[in-house]
Amino acid sequence: MRSVIDILDLTVEEIDELVKCALDIISNPSNYSEKLKGKKLATLFFEPSTRTRLSFEAAMYELGGNVLSVSDQKASSASKGESVADTAKVISCYADIIAMRHPKEGAPYVASKNASIPVINAGDGGHNHPTQTLADILTIYREKGRLTDLTIGLCGDLKFGRTVHSLINAMARYSNIKFVLISPKELVLPSYVVSDVLDKNNIEYKVTTDLESVMGELDVLYMTRVQQERFFNEEDYLRLKDSYILTPEKLLDAKIDLTIMHPLPRVNEISVAIDDDPRAAYFKQVLNGKYMRMALILKLLGEM
Ligand code: NCD
Repeated sequence: MRSVIDILDLTVEEIDELVKCALDIISNPSNYSEKLKGKKLATLFFEPSTRTRLSFEAAMYELGGNVLSVSDQKASSASKGESVADTAKVISCYADIIAMRHPKEGAPYVASKNASIPVINAGDGGHNHPTQTLADILTIYREKGRLTDLTIGLCGDLKFGRTVHSLINAMARYSNIKFVLISPKELVLPSYVVSDVLDKNNIEYKVTTDLESVMGELDVLYMTRVQQERFFNEEDYLRLKDSYILTPEKLLDAKIDLTIMHPLPRVNEISVAIDDDPRAAYFKQVLNGKYMRMALILKLLGEM
């Protein structure tokens, strides 16, 4: 059974195929509206979510399918002590595909090993978030017209930000991608991502704490929220949470065709004064996420 737990579970060719499929869905939505009639997606979200869960559910409805949903761990049997493995076996009796978010790294992987239907990781702890990366890739492609030859700045919480880890893994496979890693010293990219992805593949990257000093080099700026829920103490969170706030003044040196992204939710990282700037792509990213999830569900159910 094919599952997607890590973005590396998809080859570059498969990602390109998903982009093509998403673009076709955008142009010809009616061709897809009955594709998954009679099929059911189970969304199991054991951590807060608005976008990701609703976007999976909207994706399934727009393909003509139905949705079964657990959105509160306390209201599910997990609170009685049921294991992820058993939950996966049980849900396999009701649904055709599962999207799972879990605070524990690796929980969707365990689910995939025990389910008899495909499992999609919708975010596991501070680890991975492959479908956000699919949304990010379609956004970069639509904004830039390419997925190669880009300098991508990642700014904020690079330590706990799972969207950052998955995006680096994905984009490192395209040619001539450079990364600029902008974070406070306490929130630098985990060393396993630096060694296993960047160093291992000879990817060019630069590390800095100063966003403005690198602004003019960037083709894409990916802002992230400081991940409060992964901090051990409130004091550190409060000290670091407003490390970077993007304001129109800070964009003075930015390229005219910069693409500004954020996986959302935004707290303070991007001033609302930037929302109307044509370079702001973060709300387009939300919509792109729905199309890429539609493409991925079709693929995993053998309908693409
Ligand atoms: C992200 C996540 O859950 O990791 N949100 C999302 O899915 N769009 C980013 C975040 O919560 O900061």
